[in-house]
Amino acid sequence: MSRLAAAAASALAKAPLDPIEQSKKLAAYTAVDNHVKPEHRVIGIGSGSTVPYVVERIVQQGEEVNKGRVFIPTGFQSKQLIVEAGLGLGDVDQYPTIDVTLDGADEVDHALNCVKGGGACHLREKVLAEAATTFILVADHRKNVQYLGTNFVQGVPIEVVPFAYAKVLQNLRHILGSPKATLRMAVKKGWFLQVPFTFELLVNIFWAAGPVVSDNGNFIIDAPFEREKMIDPYVIMAQIKMLTGVVEVGLFCHMAKAAYFGNSASLPFRTS
Ligand code: 5RP
Repeated sequence: MSRLAAAAASALAKAPLDPIEQSKKLAAYTAVDNHVKPEHRVIGIGSGSTVPYVVERIVQQGEEVNKGRVFIPTGFQSKQLIVEAGLGLGDVDQYPTIDVTLDGADEVDHALNCVKGGGACHLREKVLAEAATTFILVADHRKNVQYLGTNFVQGVPIEVVPFAYAKVLQNLRHILGSPKATLRMAVKKGWFLQVPFTFELLVNIFWAAGPVVSDNGNFIIDAPFEREKMIDPYVIMAQIKMLTGVVEVGLFCHMAKAAYFGNSASLPFRTS
């Protein structure tokens, strides 16, 4: 690296984080400090943009404590984070009981129900949440809502076997009153994702590279719901799970023990 590039990299490293990043870091650091205890041996690492700060804080707990631990990832991103941090990698089939799992979320309501699956990892995330004695959510303050569906316009992610996707789409449209449920498509170039909402259709027609395929080889449907229906998300979750072809729903109800939402100035959080 040239001296100029090295100076630029060092200045960037020292630059203060923007408020959203600051918020994620604060949430993750506080969650680790409160819930990842020295005696914990098996730790689940979830997905999303707050999770790198979780791993960063765990590393700061020191080599001594971490060498006796095993870390279970929910997907490719968390596996990379664990490996790059030099932490021990494990699998849930070796360790079906996890001391604590920390994970991100797309939205969390006042009762700690949440929507997950923005990264299409929610099946494995739910397995690790269920396997954990303690399941903790970490996110920035934009994810903290009274009712699910307040800010997250994309809707509830639903993993379906490819053979059944059209039937499930029809079920969702007709039975659950979700006329806008769509199959999630991969887009060839990342920056096309940033186009304004009105161009979404054009993007799907001209730049879509085919359906998103999960780590389990399944498709993902995104199903927006009216907010009134989300007053009891458990009911919606149960209805969708009953549909043949549905593998898992990105609604996590009554699972989290606590959720941390950082804020650049203070750190509000709620426990169930
Ligand atoms: C992936 C997830 C993520 O935790 C969720 O989408 C939040 O991600 P981000 O912090 O990047 O918004 O559930 O399946």
